[in-house]
Amino acid sequence: MLKIGSLTLAQPTVLAPMAGLTDHVLRQLADEIGGCGLLVSEMIAAEGLRRRNRRTMEMIASSSLRTPQFIQLFGANPEALSEAAAIVSAETAYAGIDINMGCPVPKVVRSGAGSGLLRDLPRLAAVVAATRRSTALPLTVKVRLGFSQVNVLETTRIIEQEGADAVAVHFRLKSDGYTGSARWDLAAAIRENLRIPLLGNGDIMTPVFALEKLKTVDGLLIGRGALANPFIFREIAGQATSESDWGGYVRRLAALIAEHYPERKRLGKLKAFTRFLVLSRPGSRAWKRRIFLSQDFVEARGFLEETFPLVEEP
Ligand SMILES: Cc1cc2nc3c(=O)[nH]c(=O)nc-3n(C[C@H](O)[C@H](O)[C@H](O)COP(=O)(O)O)c2cc1C
Repeated sequence: MLKIGSLTLAQPTVLAPMAGLTDHVLRQLADEIGGCGLLVSEMIAAEGLRRRNRRTMEMIASSSLRTPQFIQLFGANPEALSEAAAIVSAETAYAGIDINMGCPVPKVVRSGAGSGLLRDLPRLAAVVAATRRSTALPLTVKVRLGFSQVNVLETTRIIEQEGADAVAVHFRLKSDGYTGSARWDLAAAIRENLRIPLLGNGDIMTPVFALEKLKTVDGLLIGRGALANPFIFREIAGQATSESDWGGYVRRLAALIAEHYPERKRLGKLKAFTRFLVLSRPGSRAWKRRIFLSQDFVEARGFLEETFPLVEEP
C-alpha cells in the first residue's frame, strides 16, 4: 500500500503531470477507466496562482473525482510557492501538492524554476520548506537525476529533510531532455537513501515493464505510456482491455473535449491527446495522418470513430 503523507493510494500508480495534456479531460477519463492511484494536473505557475491570474484560475478549476488529484506547482520564489500552496489548501479540492523540479523548458529554467532548481540547492531547500510550512496537504516533489550531472542522492535527501512526503524521480538528467533511456538502474540507491516513498518515472510503456519496475520503487509515474494506452493503469492492476473499450474511449474523449473546450481549441486538443496512441496501436500511422491533416474537429472525430468502431462483446 503506497502512503503519501496522510493519503493512502488504492494503487501504486500515478498519471504523471503533462503540460497541455493532464487537464480535467484526461484526468476525468483516467478516473472513469480506473486502476490509477493518483492523478497530477498540468504544471501551474505559483506566481499566477498567487496573483489569481484569470487563466491560471481557469486551469486549476477541477471537478471532484473518485481518484485523488494533486496539483503541480512550479516556481523559483519560495514566497510564491508558499502563497500558492496556501490558496490550494484553503480554496480547492486537490488532495495534495507536487512541486516541479524537472521541467527542462528554457524559459522555465532561466527563471530558476523547474530543473533550474537542481543546480541551486539552497533555493531548492527553501522552496520545499516554504511550501511545507504553508500546507498540511500531502506534498511531493518531482525531480530529474540532476541538471547536467547526477546529484539525485543529494537533492532527494534535502527534499525529505525539508518535509516532503514522497519524491518522484524521472531517471534522466535535464541535459538528456527525452533522449536515451531512463536510468532505472539508479532506483535502488536512491530508495536506500530515503525514508519517504520513492516514485519512479521514465519510459514505462507496457504493463510488463511496469510490474518489473514496481519491484524497485514504491510507486510509478506514467506519462507518455498512459497517452499511448489509456488502459495501462488498469492493465497493471490485472484487467484486460477489449476492442470495444477502445471504441468507447475515443468517443468519450471527443465528447469531453467538446464539453470542456470552445470550438477553436477542440481540434488541437484532439490531436494532442491522440498523438501518442500510435505507439500502442499497430497500423495506426494511416489514421494518425488523417487526423493530423484534418482541418476540422468534427471531421477528425469522425475519422477516429470510424477507426475505432464500437464492437459488440461476444
Ligand atoms: C507533453 C509533455 C508534457 C510534460 N509536462 C510536464 C509537466 O508539466 N510537469 C512535469 O513535471 N513533467 C512534465 N512532463 C514530463 C513527464 O511528467 C514525465 O516525467 C516524462 O514524460 C517521462 O515519463 P514517461 O516516459 O512516462 O512519459 C511532460 C512530458 C510530456 C511528454
